[in-house]
Amino acid sequence: MAIVQRLGFITIGAKDLDEAAGLYSKVGRMVETGRDGSTAFLTGGTDHHWMRIEQSDIEEVKRVGYDVGNAKNMADAIQLLKDWKLAYEEVALPNGEYVQHRVRFTDPGGMSVDLFYGMDQLAKAPDNDGINIKKFLHAGWRSPNFDETFKFWTEGLGFKVSDQIEQNAFFMRCDDRYHHSLLLIRTNALTPEFGHICTLVDGIDDVMRIRNNGLKAGAKLRSDVMKHVPSGSVAVYFTDEKRKFDFEYCFEHAQLPDDHQHRVLPMKEAVGDVWQAEVRDPELTSA
Ligand SMILES: [Fe+2]
Repeated sequence: MAIVQRLGFITIGAKDLDEAAGLYSKVGRMVETGRDGSTAFLTGGTDHHWMRIEQSDIEEVKRVGYDVGNAKNMADAIQLLKDWKLAYEEVALPNGEYVQHRVRFTDPGGMSVDLFYGMDQLAKAPDNDGINIKKFLHAGWRSPNFDETFKFWTEGLGFKVSDQIEQNAFFMRCDDRYHHSLLLIRTNALTPEFGHICTLVDGIDDVMRIRNNGLKAGAKLRSDVMKHVPSGSVAVYFTDEKRKFDFEYCFEHAQLPDDHQHRVLPMKEAVGDVWQAEVRDPELTSA
């Protein structure tokens, strides 16, 4: 049984709150749910926030937040942190965070993490003018101290490997069973490097409307519409140039059965796009 139920939110630092909130509303199609002093919150669903934007001198991803669902899982998470001798800060009803309870710690790879449960819920998801957003789906980053970090997230927090690319990248699912809510990539760097977040939408029309309106708003694509080999999802990626990470929108990202057998994919195949596979020219019948 996984302690973690789903991806909850990420926290970023931005010099200009209006600029960052504007990017994730105009291009990211999220809606601002509130601003408390120097912090803005945006969501695409009934959760109070999927993004927490803090005014900061440094443009960066500060933290990832995963939802443990309930008090029992929170108690298990705290015991895990004690067992792993990881320092943590625990707060019930943290002021200005819109959750019931959270712990904050740094994982063995150096990533700052919030585990929480009981996020405030809106009466209804925001209207999004013909774009159907379903879920804040996954986050991915490069992690130092990889083997120990991998062990913490899998044996500790209960993530299961859905697929892996050689020994370099691991797509991992939690209790919500989507193919991955965490992508952990091995690195020899000394600090973690945040890579991307992904939001699940309903279908191709939603991906294309987000793509086309984002381009009209001046956003830069990291990758145009493509189909992943590991998860089978169809996706488009924009780049947050200031914070130096990407934000993806995808559909058909499968939920897996409990008995799913994970695959080990060669780098060349796995990082590609199903639609870029070479197709032989048909042979002509000579007269
Ligand atoms: Fe992704």
